[in-house]
Amino acid sequence: MRVCEWNQDYSVGVTILDRHHKRLFEILNKLFTLMDEGSEDRPILNVIDELIDYTHYHFEQEEEMMAKIAYPDLEQHKILHKELIDQLTDFAKEAQNGMAIFVAIKIATIGLEWLKNHILAVDHKYHEYIKAHGIEVNI
Ligand SMILES: [Fe+2]
Repeated sequence: MRVCEWNQDYSVGVTILDRHHKRLFEILNKLFTLMDEGSEDRPILNVIDELIDYTHYHFEQEEEMMAKIAYPDLEQHKILHKELIDQLTDFAKEAQNGMAIFVAIKIATIGLEWLKNHILAVDHKYHEYIKAHGIEVNI
């Protein structure tokens, strides 16, 4: 089930980070598919773990890139990343207590909105910074 699709509007001008964002959309699609199928808890818990692990990895890479280019809003950006990780971690704990499908609905809808808004409103600011300063990003 495909609920969300990455498109060029989401590009942050850094190929590897675009690839990460595409993968996050894919993981959310997996969650929507499991919800659609009325899945048991275990597969849902696995995808929630995958989402958290991959989000961690992506944020680390993105923050490393921002540090490398001396991006001035790095600290503020990190706070927003941490807020999402904390929220996902709370949801994961809730899902482990059973009826994971109901938690999956919250994670998928909140996660998708967060991701879209974050890329367009927050990540795009470093994209503007990179463009404005003619920076060559190598990660
Ligand atoms: Fe970000």
